[in-house]
Amino acid sequence: MSLGEDVRFAAHEIMEQEEVTIISHIDADGIAGEAILAQALSRAEIKTHSVFVRQLEPLTMHLVPQDDTFKLFCDLGAGQQNLLEERGLPEDNVLIVDHHVSQPCEMEYRQVNCLPYGHTKMSAAGVAYFIAKEMDSGNVDLSKIAVVGNVGDMMAREDCGLTGPAREIALEGRDHGCIDIRARDLNAYGTSTRPLHICLAYSDDPLIPGISNNINGARQFLRKLGIPLQAEGGRWRVWEELDADEKRRVTSALVQQLIACGEPVDRLFSETYLFPDEFVRTPVRNAQEFATLLNACGRWSQPRVGGAICRGDRLSAYREAEHMLANHRAVIRELLQYILDTGVAELSHVQYIHVGRKFPDTIVGIGAGMALSKLNIHKPIMIMVEQPEDPVFTKVSMRTTERVIAKGIDLQQALTVASAEVGGAGGGHKIAAGAFIPRESEEVFINRVNELLAGQSAQPGQGHC
Ligand code: C5P
Repeated sequence: MSLGEDVRFAAHEIMEQEEVTIISHIDADGIAGEAILAQALSRAEIKTHSVFVRQLEPLTMHLVPQDDTFKLFCDLGAGQQNLLEERGLPEDNVLIVDHHVSQPCEMEYRQVNCLPYGHTKMSAAGVAYFIAKEMDSGNVDLSKIAVVGNVGDMMAREDCGLTGPAREIALEGRDHGCIDIRARDLNAYGTSTRPLHICLAYSDDPLIPGISNNINGARQFLRKLGIPLQAEGGRWRVWEELDADEKRRVTSALVQQLIACGEPVDRLFSETYLFPDEFVRTPVRNAQEFATLLNACGRWSQPRVGGAICRGDRLSAYREAEHMLANHRAVIRELLQYILDTGVAELSHVQYIHVGRKFPDTIVGIGAGMALSKLNIHKPIMIMVEQPEDPVFTKVSMRTTERVIAKGIDLQQALTVASAEVGGAGGGHKIAAGAFIPRESEEVFINRVNELLAGQSAQPGQGHC
């Protein structure tokens, strides 16, 4: 079998259905994947209903309806097939669209999963797009949302741009006219909405001495180059609106700065994905910021608002999402500060912190990833938080870096094994994984994860997944 054959099978199977329930994840990829599938289905006049879950866990399984509708799992399911079986879902009534590592299960549900075919840098929204395109080639417009899902799930991060089938989707979108691909653009977050000096100062990949984490330094750097920071009327300018000559002056000065400090320059540039049909200086103008907007909706329990934005709402849902985005950023900043102020405990192969019930379980993973660049980036970070519905359980999020996984670290493997041993469950990717565990096992669990990571670092790594 090939991914293409699985996609054809899935499209055919879906087209046979009268009524489908889509069960999707609350992050940017899950919201994007649901929007793609639901739109493709409704265009094919198939009745569709969607359910969002923060994760498939025993505590959330009651949200999966036990009715006769065909169940389409998106961005989850591969690693939780045992839970689907326990819920009594028949094999021929389920299809999993995923990019996570599968866990063995007595009942093997049908899947379209890019991972077993070696496509490690494609998200569930990407897989969903291929199915939608197979259902009807007119669904090519959904490539825009697929690119948002891919970029939101960090599929462009390691290579400074999308690769493989995920890039093919971007090219299809470009040919359709809904995506503008910018080669060798600035590799920084917030190029459409952040004031230029803030955009540079908040950028830490690559770390630019004197500019990264230094707003005054970034402001002075731009002033010396004669780049006006403000437009007429005093509004802050953003990277996207600089003209070609201004962009060239900034990037060549950044290159010089990096070279002068003996730092590599390769990560200064990235391929980026802009949406020409969106207003300039809005968070839906580029794939990265669009994905953050979706994450803000999902992590604050409003994934349907994100879904409405994917479907084109730029009025009430969009305004609601903008409020959530501001709140999302404020709470993540607060979490980051809390981690830095409180400090992390360190074992030989992991650094960790328990935040109790101070922060929502849905955002601690994002905070963990951001905190890492300000802590010891060579050691994976684990954040534990009380599970909101049932404090008998603890939610665990882990993050690490590309460099560390290249040395053999696999967070998904460590969390899957260690959580199963204490009666919990976990999954995800080598670089970002999560789990839930009984609260009473926290200490045993941390020590076991440390031991597993120590074992992995003795083995050579095999790259991303
Ligand atoms: O929740 P968090 O953002 O830390 O999740 C990181 C990754 O781990 C995601 O891909 C998520 O789907 C996965 N995960 C999982 N099982 C869990 C928690 C998270 O597979 N119980």
